[in-house]
Amino acid sequence: MKKNQKEILKKQTVKHYGVSEKFNREWQSFFNKATSVLFVSDLQVGAMTSACSSKPLIRDKDTYYTPSVKSKAVNKVLHDGTKRLLKKKTDVLVIVGEGIDGANPQQQGNQSWTTNQLDQVNDCVKLLHELFEWKVCYVSRGSKYHVQNGAVDYDDILAEKLGANKNSPFGGTNLTDDYGYLNVHGVVIQYAHHISYAKNPWSKGSPLAKEALLCELNESTRAHLYVRGHVHSCDGYWGYIGDNDYPTQIFTNPCAKYPDSFLMKAGMGGTIPNIGFTEVLVFPNGQYYINPIVAQPKIPKQIADVHRALRGK
Ligand SMILES: [Fe+2]
Ligand SMILES: [Fe+2]
Repeated sequence: MKKNQKEILKKQTVKHYGVSEKFNREWQSFFNKATSVLFVSDLQVGAMTSACSSKPLIRDKDTYYTPSVKSKAVNKVLHDGTKRLLKKKTDVLVIVGEGIDGANPQQQGNQSWTTNQLDQVNDCVKLLHELFEWKVCYVSRGSKYHVQNGAVDYDDILAEKLGANKNSPFGGTNLTDDYGYLNVHGVVIQYAHHISYAKNPWSKGSPLAKEALLCELNESTRAHLYVRGHVHSCDGYWGYIGDNDYPTQIFTNPCAKYPDSFLMKAGMGGTIPNIGFTEVLVFPNGQYYINPIVAQPKIPKQIADVHRALRGK
């Protein structure tokens, strides 16, 4: 590793918003009464700007990837974030799509440490086991650009390797689907990868409200709580929609990928994502609490000193 990279990582700090660890310990027995559902999405393993395991293997090259500064920074946010879980051993892990980044054909793989989707899936499984403990798992499928090659869906392969439970709203033998439903103490949760996105900070609630309302209009898409991935941004909306006598809630999940060149094609501004995951605690009386665990990697940026360069240093 270069000397300046070592210095960058030493300076890096992660600050997670949320309750203190002391509070968490004092309230542990209360939190343990709830069923915890942990939503993780957009890990995008394989990109050099994404999270990876502690020792990612490139099988065909018989070698290991040395994580980049950005990979290490994202990993630090995720590992530190696990300390913010209110229930230490998660009951239900839900992957809301894009465990892997895929071969990234738009960039011909030039920011991927491997373009082999199987290497990526294997490393994603390793990373998840390094981060979390869980009892049961479900997976929904992400964007085809990232996870599909031919007819093979690698989120489906990921589900198989994680030993996920089958969940398809209208399927029989399907292991995964584009979306799924869970019933947790009477709270019906619908999880799916895709949703539209508004970049304006003051407009971010609109696509969420629209999605929740449209889902509420038809019995086959109705739920109490909607969870989405895809947008790499942690936002939420709730309201009494239509003539419902219960509050409908919807949120989008953070991700584990720092922007790559392709993400900057429409400009640099607004490309820094929210990194993390979301824990939902559902209590036996049907009340629930959403605990987004999000932080920004703090990587000090390097600014070239022109005058030093002019002096030949
Ligand atoms: Fe994504
Ligand atoms: Fe996506």
